[in-house]
Amino acid sequence: MRQTLVAGNWKMNGSKAATESLCKAIIAGLNSSDTGIVVCVPYVYLADAAKLTEGTPLDLGAQNVADQSSGAYTGEISASMLNEFNCKYAIVGHSERRTYYGDTNESVALRYSQAQQQGIIPILCVGETLEQRENDQTFSVIDEQLDAVLSAAGIESFSKAVIAYEPVWAIGTGRTASDEQAQEVHQYIRQKFAAKNQAIADQLQILYGGSVKPDNAKGLFAMPDIDGGLIGGASLDAEGFLKIYSASK
Ligand code: G3H
Repeated sequence: MRQTLVAGNWKMNGSKAATESLCKAIIAGLNSSDTGIVVCVPYVYLADAAKLTEGTPLDLGAQNVADQSSGAYTGEISASMLNEFNCKYAIVGHSERRTYYGDTNESVALRYSQAQQQGIIPILCVGETLEQRENDQTFSVIDEQLDAVLSAAGIESFSKAVIAYEPVWAIGTGRTASDEQAQEVHQYIRQKFAAKNQAIADQLQILYGGSVKPDNAKGLFAMPDIDGGLIGGASLDAEGFLKIYSASK
């Protein structure tokens, strides 16, 4: 049985004060035995969030990580830096990074490996645009995104990674994939991995992301190959985020 995971991606939202109040409100709604819940906060709030979450069931993640380990890369944050702030996870290859900041399949693979070299679990995001879906390219796009990482890091690396399927057309649009549409892609991804290594495929957490809300989470998470969610907008409200988390249990 796979452990579920609900990850909040705050994106470029919040403030120092909001980080404190949101972390505290989420933690207050958890039991000490809870697991599988994480917030990915903006870099500059990681130090505060690390103190607030230490010793609590709420895990911490970053929204990106550099594709190099150190050096003259102005503005970048390395995996070893993230490690100093108790980051258990780092999102890599989010579609907003791919679309607005030029992240390529190759650079995403480097980021993925950098995270793992520091013991940080990458949450590898994949997903097609609306145009690609309408042109029947969904599976080929997912293949390309996953194959870049598979060929750089190998199948075994996925024993310490999480995949998030996020159809770009469902992100922040309020237009979520139906339970069946999401399941179809999740199943495709799991079968792809199963063809290479059944044990790794069986334990691989594949999250769904894209307009997950408290009222649609239960149906999505009930699908056999959906193991939780990567939550954007709805993770900025503690009550709603906790409801989504409850739906995963
Ligand atoms: O990382 C999270 C996803 O981009 C989903 O964002 O829940 O606001 O649609 P959203």
